[in-house]
Amino acid sequence: MPRLYSLSSRLLLILALFKSFEPILADTNFTVDDNDSSIQYSDGWIISTFSSLDYGGYHHLSGSNTSTANFTFTGTAVYIMAPLWPYAVGIQAGVDSASPVGIPLQDLTHTTAGGSEDIASAVVWGVPNLSNTSHTLYISFWNIEEWMVLDAIM
Ligand SMILES: *[C@@H]1O[C@H](CO)[C@@H](O)[C@H](O)[C@H]1NC(C)=O
Ligand SMILES: *[C@@H]1O[C@H](CO)[C@@H](O)[C@H](O)[C@H]1NC(C)=O
Ligand SMILES: *[C@@H]1O[C@H](CO)[C@@H](O)[C@H](O)[C@H]1NC(C)=O
Ligand SMILES: *[C@@H]1O[C@H](CO)[C@@H](O)[C@H](O)[C@H]1NC(C)=O
Ligand SMILES: *[C@@H]1O[C@H](CO)[C@@H](O)[C@H](O)[C@H]1NC(C)=O
Ligand SMILES: *[C@@H]1O[C@H](CO)[C@@H](O)[C@H](O)[C@H]1NC(C)=O
Repeated sequence: MPRLYSLSSRLLLILALFKSFEPILADTNFTVDDNDSSIQYSDGWIISTFSSLDYGGYHHLSGSNTSTANFTFTGTAVYIMAPLWPYAVGIQAGVDSASPVGIPLQDLTHTTAGGSEDIASAVVWGVPNLSNTSHTLYISFWNIEEWMVLDAIM
């Protein structure tokens, strides 16, 4: 009886060792700041003044409804990070052939006529279930908003 017990615990130990040798295919998030050369911007975008509420201290913005930005990447998920503003800011975004969706970036707790963001950059939208292949994130103007922005992609 004691012998059996010791055999089975040895087996468990071996199984545990095997398990730790399985290749680890964990996903890793990495953040691409708005100034990264891998993001393609159309005309109409400008770079913000410094704000500690932006990822990396700055964001791109445009008030032109023809401005777009595209980001091609290989991976299983993509997320957009942005601060929030107390007025009409937002974007449309979509991945590959999916219809773009509107992403409001407005802090609805108060309203000003303009000025800086007032809530720090965080993930506001994402597509978590992509195949591990090449994809393109398309960002465009959302006609119900006055401004579009891009702060970071993760
Ligand atoms: C995705 O594919 C790349 C190689 O193309 C590989 O390095 C990476 O581990 C894969 N990621 C996942 C989560 O399978
Ligand atoms: C990557 O970021 C997303 C959005 O914040 C989060 O849901 C996810 O758990 C993160 N994945 C990893 C591996 O950290
Ligand atoms: C982004 O891709 C769309 C669709 O292909 C295209 O119409 C647009 O001009 C592209 N924008 C940039 C900045 O490359
Ligand atoms: C983007 O901006 C950050 C913060 O200002 C800076 O550290 C980084 O070097 C810039 N990256 C590029 C590609 O210019
Ligand atoms: C942009 O706005 C102008 C003026 O309101 C309008 O005529 C035009 O159709 C809009 N373009 C797009 C791409 O929405
Ligand atoms: C990802 O999830 C969304 C929402 O749950 C779904 O509409 C879409 O078909 C899924 N895409 C893939 C590639 O599984």
